Amino acid sequence: MSSDPGDIVKAAQEAMELAYSPYSGFAVGAAVRGGSGRIYSGCNIENAAYPEGWCAETSAISALIMAGESKIIEVAVAGGGDEPCTPCGGCRQRLREFAHSDTPLHVCSPEGVRMTTTLGELLPHSFGPENLE
Ligand code: THU
Repeated sequence: MSSDPGDIVKAAQEAMELAYSPYSGFAVGAAVRGGSGRIYSGCNIENAAYPEGWCAETSAISALIMAGESKIIEVAVAGGGDEPCTPCGGCRQRLREFAHSDTPLHVCSPEGVRMTTTLGELLPHSFGPENLE
């Protein structure tokens, strides 16, 4: 199911096109695959009151939750720039709530996949829901 990243990468790239980022000019799209195999996407949405904007990953997680899912088995993030657009620290933790250290994460540009890593590599020794059990 997660061996061909084509569909989730495309979803992240398409979400990037919809970004509302007039202040930073930095468009980001994210897509998460739920346990059902369905893909949910979202973009960054900025605000004139700057700190009130939020990240693409957060939008995608919201779509997943609103569809009644709570497990993430694959992630793709698409952004521009010279450096790979990896998720910010806060979004790594937000993804961690619903994913695991071995969950694959594709870091993409509008052209394709720049690198594939795992959530555990981006957020080692993480604190998650299991810590509260
Ligand atoms: N951004 C994301 O959407 N996801 C990230 O993980 C990194 C940063 C957005 C937030 C802001 O709208 C813009 O990129 C510049 O920081």
